[in-house]
Amino acid sequence: MNFSFILRTELHSGEGMFQKVGEIVRKLGEHCLVVIGKASVKKSGALEKLLISLKNIGIKSEVFEGIEENPSIETVQRGGEVLKEIRAKCANREGNKAFIIALGGGSVIDASKGIAIASSTDENLENYFGEEKVNFEIPPIVAIPTTSGTGSEVTRYAVITDLISLQKKVITSQKIYPRIAILDPLLCLSMPLEVTTNTGLDALSHAIEGYFSKKAHPFSDLLATQSIELISQNLLKVCKNGKDIVARGNMHYASYLAGIVISTASTGIIHAMGYSLTTKWGMPHGFANAILMPEVIKYYQNCCILPEDEWDKKIKTKLKKFNELLTKNLNLKGKDASKTLSHLIEKLNVYKNISKYDFNKADLPSFVEGVMANERLLSVATYRPNKEEVEEIYKKVFKDFIT
Ligand SMILES: [Fe+2]
Repeated sequence: MNFSFILRTELHSGEGMFQKVGEIVRKLGEHCLVVIGKASVKKSGALEKLLISLKNIGIKSEVFEGIEENPSIETVQRGGEVLKEIRAKCANREGNKAFIIALGGGSVIDASKGIAIASSTDENLENYFGEEKVNFEIPPIVAIPTTSGTGSEVTRYAVITDLISLQKKVITSQKIYPRIAILDPLLCLSMPLEVTTNTGLDALSHAIEGYFSKKAHPFSDLLATQSIELISQNLLKVCKNGKDIVARGNMHYASYLAGIVISTASTGIIHAMGYSLTTKWGMPHGFANAILMPEVIKYYQNCCILPEDEWDKKIKTKLKKFNELLTKNLNLKGKDASKTLSHLIEKLNVYKNISKYDFNKADLPSFVEGVMANERLLSVATYRPNKEEVEEIYKKVFKDFIT
């Protein structure tokens, strides 16, 4: 199979790596914008440590805080204005360049990518949604994830929410890969159980979608299978004991691997179907993907039940391998991949939380329309579902809520 693969992000990974942040980023410039979410990195002390570390090596910093769980266009534009001012100051001094440090979850890293774009242009951010529309260089981004799920530290995607249409929109560009990723599992120790579960399941959904994507290649499969194995070995452990630093480290690395997988092989229909559940019903992204995963895998299983061509055979083999990777660590035998996934999700107490969200049967037709309009993700799905099949998957997932 022919494929091209480029890894653009420099990686520094390991327990305690965060302490070396100043040393690692000093080559990028002398002034940086630190982007954070609402409170967690302040509470954990990580922000203070970062600012001290930067000061100690003579890097000036300003903090832009308040990135929402689903960052909005407005917030990103505001961040862009702040960075523009910093860049203007830097431009007055020769050799002094500005950069961004994103300290937080995937939303903070995604927002930082948008902020870097917004600071480089007078155009509205909306002009850059879609594939490869950024045709200029942006300030370097250092991504320091404090959750283990989105893989945004190594992807060319930024998901930003349009509050008017209530749609998640995606900027896909080679220009927005973070320059540096720093993975330190110690930063994840204070992650609440619900976030640990949901982000871990998001990472699993990335590995799965990339593994079954039409764009998958031998190298992405290698990373996807390692990611799936690490998640099946460590997600339950870390949800049981959030202080298990070895399991935290493995989940952080698995999420990074899955990020590389989707950057080269893309996500697919699980993400396409999950977006509306997040924007309309407020379900966390990983949670929405998790409840959809078993039914999407069942759909794939049914599509290749009687192998007729090489693709069917390949997918059947992949489904078997995927099930083996999961069952090996879950102590299950004889189940198919869809049932094994359901079992894992059940053990993580996800299903019982569905009722917390505002299910409204009347929304389903618009959700189906949204999926059918998402050509980017539909076109790479292992098997492309039609409108009726997408509707059927939603109905099966929410069968207990449909009267
Ligand atoms: Fe995701």
